[in-house]
Amino acid sequence: MKILHIDSSPTGDHSYSRRISAKLVEKLKSENANATIIHRDLVAQSLPHLDPFTIGALYAPAEGRSDAQTAALANSDQAVKELMDADTVVIGSPMHNFGISSQLKSWIDHIVRAGATFHYTAEGPKGLVPPGKKVYIVAARGGVYSEGPYKAYEHQDSYLKAVLGFIGLTDITIIPVEGVSMGLEAAEKAVSQAEAAIAQAA
Ligand SMILES: Cc1cc2nc3c(=O)[nH]c(=O)nc-3n(C[C@H](O)[C@H](O)[C@H](O)COP(=O)(O)O)c2cc1C
Repeated sequence: MKILHIDSSPTGDHSYSRRISAKLVEKLKSENANATIIHRDLVAQSLPHLDPFTIGALYAPAEGRSDAQTAALANSDQAVKELMDADTVVIGSPMHNFGISSQLKSWIDHIVRAGATFHYTAEGPKGLVPPGKKVYIVAARGGVYSEGPYKAYEHQDSYLKAVLGFIGLTDITIIPVEGVSMGLEAAEKAVSQAEAAIAQAA
């Protein structure tokens, strides 16, 4: 079993998504003696924003790419390979301004790639990620979005489900850690609920 563990919170040791996603990976590892783990820390090693040259390289036919274009795609190639190789993907995601962190968005921009992870057909776009991969998203956020007045502001889980589903990753379990900025009691409750969800994760 190959686990791809992605962290995208810039809050280091204070990060809930890092702490809880690490616990989940530990659990998966304890249940799979042969598990191998690739840890991609998108803060320690941030991916560059796509620039005009890299976008040109993305659209250039593979056989006609220059050496410079091939080099420009190295980050994307590596990120796509890690995703394609993985059986299970664990994503630690902090909510930033109602969506995901810019670090995680940059990873998405490198892995959602025409001709590599999706393609266009006469019936519309189709995902190219082989079926059978399991995705867990540990979604940490200061407020509460699963219910209440801010429900419509939730663009973290819904966005990740949409964009990952677009490339073929449809077996997604969200582990929310929400309300962590709403006082100590709320934060402790959020963590214990997330830990209970991890205990149930297969
Ligand atoms: C730049 C930034 C933007 C944030 N935006 C939101 C937000 O829109 N909604 C919210 O509920 N919490 C927001 N928060 C709080 C974080 O979601 C919260 O601290 C959460 O624990 C982040 O995950 P982490 O602990 O893994 O870093 C924001 C925090 C930062 C640093």
